[in-house]
Amino acid sequence: MAWTTAKAQAAKTSSRAASGSPFGKERIKLNEGWRFMRYTMEPDKLIYDVRPPIQDTNDSKVADSKPTEAVQVDKKEEVLKTWILPSGNDFINDPVKRHTRPVGDPGADFPFVKATFADEAWEAVTLPHDWAIKGPFYAGDRPEVGGGMGRLPSHGVAWYRNKIAVSAADRGKIIYLDIDGAMSHAMVWLNGHLVGGWPYGYNSFRLELTPHLNFGGINQLAIRVDNPNYSARWYPGGGLYRNVWLTKVAPVHVAQWGTFVTTPAVSATEAIINVSVQIENKGKTEQTVDVKTQIYALNTYSKPTGASLASLPTQKITVKTGDHQPIEGKVTIKKPKLWGPYPTQKPNLYVARTSVFVGGRQVDQFETPFGIRQVKFNSTKGLLVNGQPVRIQGVNQHHDLGALGAAFNVRAAERQLERLRELGCNAIRMAHNPPAPELLDLTDRMGFLVIDEIFDSWERRKTPHDFHLIFPDWHEPDTRAFIRRDRNHPSVIAWSFGNEVGEQYTDTAGAAIARKLHDIVHEEDPTRPASASQNYAKPDMPFTKVMDFLSLNYQGEGIRDAPAYAHLKGIRTSPLYPAFQKAFPDKLIISSETASALSTRGSYTFPVATENSAPVSDGVGGNPVTKEVSGYELYTAQFGASPDKVFATQDRHPYVAGEFVWTGWDYLGEPTPYYSARSSYSGIIDLAGFKKDRFYLYQSRWRPDLPIAHILPHWNWPNRVGEVTPVHVFTSGDEAELFLNGQSLGRKKKAEYAYRLRWDDVQYKPGELTVITYKNGKRWAEERIRTTDKPAALVAQADRSAIQANGEDLAFVTVTVTDKNGLMVPDANNTVSFSLQGPGEIVATDNGDPANLTSFSSHERQAYNGMVLAIIRAKKGAPGKLTLTIKAEGLAKTQLNIRSN
Ligand code: GAL
Repeated sequence: MAWTTAKAQAAKTSSRAASGSPFGKERIKLNEGWRFMRYTMEPDKLIYDVRPPIQDTNDSKVADSKPTEAVQVDKKEEVLKTWILPSGNDFINDPVKRHTRPVGDPGADFPFVKATFADEAWEAVTLPHDWAIKGPFYAGDRPEVGGGMGRLPSHGVAWYRNKIAVSAADRGKIIYLDIDGAMSHAMVWLNGHLVGGWPYGYNSFRLELTPHLNFGGINQLAIRVDNPNYSARWYPGGGLYRNVWLTKVAPVHVAQWGTFVTTPAVSATEAIINVSVQIENKGKTEQTVDVKTQIYALNTYSKPTGASLASLPTQKITVKTGDHQPIEGKVTIKKPKLWGPYPTQKPNLYVARTSVFVGGRQVDQFETPFGIRQVKFNSTKGLLVNGQPVRIQGVNQHHDLGALGAAFNVRAAERQLERLRELGCNAIRMAHNPPAPELLDLTDRMGFLVIDEIFDSWERRKTPHDFHLIFPDWHEPDTRAFIRRDRNHPSVIAWSFGNEVGEQYTDTAGAAIARKLHDIVHEEDPTRPASASQNYAKPDMPFTKVMDFLSLNYQGEGIRDAPAYAHLKGIRTSPLYPAFQKAFPDKLIISSETASALSTRGSYTFPVATENSAPVSDGVGGNPVTKEVSGYELYTAQFGASPDKVFATQDRHPYVAGEFVWTGWDYLGEPTPYYSARSSYSGIIDLAGFKKDRFYLYQSRWRPDLPIAHILPHWNWPNRVGEVTPVHVFTSGDEAELFLNGQSLGRKKKAEYAYRLRWDDVQYKPGELTVITYKNGKRWAEERIRTTDKPAALVAQADRSAIQANGEDLAFVTVTVTDKNGLMVPDANNTVSFSLQGPGEIVATDNGDPANLTSFSSHERQAYNGMVLAIIRAKKGAPGKLTLTIKAEGLAKTQLNIRSN
């Protein structure tokens, strides 16, 4: 079977078209003016549900440990769950299964929900807000929050309050609160009434405020979030960490995520565009409406350009009060500009503008950006986009933005993608939850392919308080909401409804749950293939049969199967690509997780493994004292494989469509192998955004036409004179000659299925290492590194010299410690301090060291292996010159100017 999909971008009302529209529709960002309070003592009793007690506080289990059964809870307590469940009703298909709100108004007497409560003493915050990121980190052996969740205080109960003015002129409109993500178990009160909520912290949701609104007055909004400890294998963040919107519409309007644009036939000469629109009537009387959709091209700023390219025929429909009705239509576009992945294709975008009229008067307008493309999953040719084969050169990405935490920021996400693009990466797997909506706008615009993923656990648990607790009630609403929100994005090529779930182990019972989720996905989107990632299932298991394509984690190259891994316990498999291919010749295979190679940037341990892949342990690539893992890029998680081993297996099995490396960037939490640290070691890029040596290994493979020569390690080893200090070279060439102080150490050629060149017996002496690489016998690229002098100066560079004065845009300033000749000192750890003059602030600093427990909000930080980062934000509405002063004791200070426009 070949899956054919073709389409589209998010069914989201665009703020640009919405605010201030002549027909009164508005979409207002509600990010300012919030007051925030997190309990430091025993919280209130307004709980969503009772949770099982924590029986096991060990958060450092190997990531591929077998998930276990849920623990039963006997405790009976009054809970608010039954009032919250109806918020998911629009996403439950069977009317019988929808929830009825019980009588009563829980929490109505609680002071925080009342307008009269004085919250001036609470902290003033602007959204997106992650309460935990500024720390402090929990240090020591028995931390309240362990390394797994990033040692940051993301747990606990907190309240957000805001006052919203709604004018009398808005009377008659329907007013919604749209929350792009709240971590977690959000419950919302308006003017003292419980409106509803949404437990899963990664999904977006909408609540209707109209019935309790005071038009022509001030309205008190109060949101309670309750984020359990032991709820994740990584850092979740805490609070209202994405955008919040107030949406005002006429009673008859396009429903939430109410459009679905598909392109069932695509060629260079023409494309058929199908538009389905759900019209919702929240008014008191039945309405007959005219619905008209026009197609425009979108320019690079995501603005419609030029005249409309095509119009769907206007359609008339009658919608009863309280109901919604679909309208379907299609139109042909001549010579479409296709959406395709960078760099071989262009990510052209269109927008479908839907207008709704009652009695000839326009009442709503809804914009759906989309792309015209055709994607085929072909089991032998791999991925075909618009007929062209595209090898998946992908990475997994977690949702946090390093030192900025979970609080979503468009520029920070764009910077991550820019760096990945430089790497040659063309695909992202959203591990393991729905991203901020704006991240998919970026992948659409920048031309990345996306596997959009929703769950890390189903009924069986990985951590005591993870999604398994709410799976029975929420798997359907969460899955439908997820697909409806994201199904118009052209960058999304496939859905993943699970990652390494415990149901792989439970035979037909697990497969039945997989089938149920798979079918929900296809009810919402019949055009894209769906799968759940497997690290344990075998080709003969019923679980595997459910999947449209095979999404394998580590199983392809074999788990714990090389001699260096022989002593380890846990899942063990030989390379399974052939077995899966034989069992499912019609299903495409993608490696959804590969490598889990571990390292800290610019740190090296000796001796160096002679194998091309080895599990890290204390003394073997790992330094338990400094909590560093060697940058020779040979060491991996217990179940992992070095990049070299993965490349060889991929090359031996060309029918595999490609890989998603675990991970592109380092992320907060899951600091395997050192759980006394706070962030991961698996990134190709470190948490601060600095390139590890591995960057050049992937770049050499993914951008073979770019001349790359990269030498490791650095050449500052005063204590190793005369000792064997292996030198490895990553290159896009095929041959290289290495020189130490002008003397050749030999010319080497890459062997078949080898991806690096190794000079393993070099005896260290200070001086200069040079490599000259060749490709097909011709000189290709070279690099020279030198033993440096001691630290003497600081060199600062901003990613952009001008940013916008909008309170959101950021400048990322990289500071390197250099010697008197301007060479970066690769082991410098000077303490660097930052201060800023002008209308802006230093939001965070970082150095990429996973073990550093200095708060991210500190303006003083040690350089880690010669580098440190400061993140600057310009003040909203106050343009001017920002001057960053950077100092370190004994070094010449430096200054850097950034313009804020
Ligand atoms: C995988 C898992 C990921 C992450 C990774 C760590 O088994 O799916 O979420 O834990 O291991 O290396």
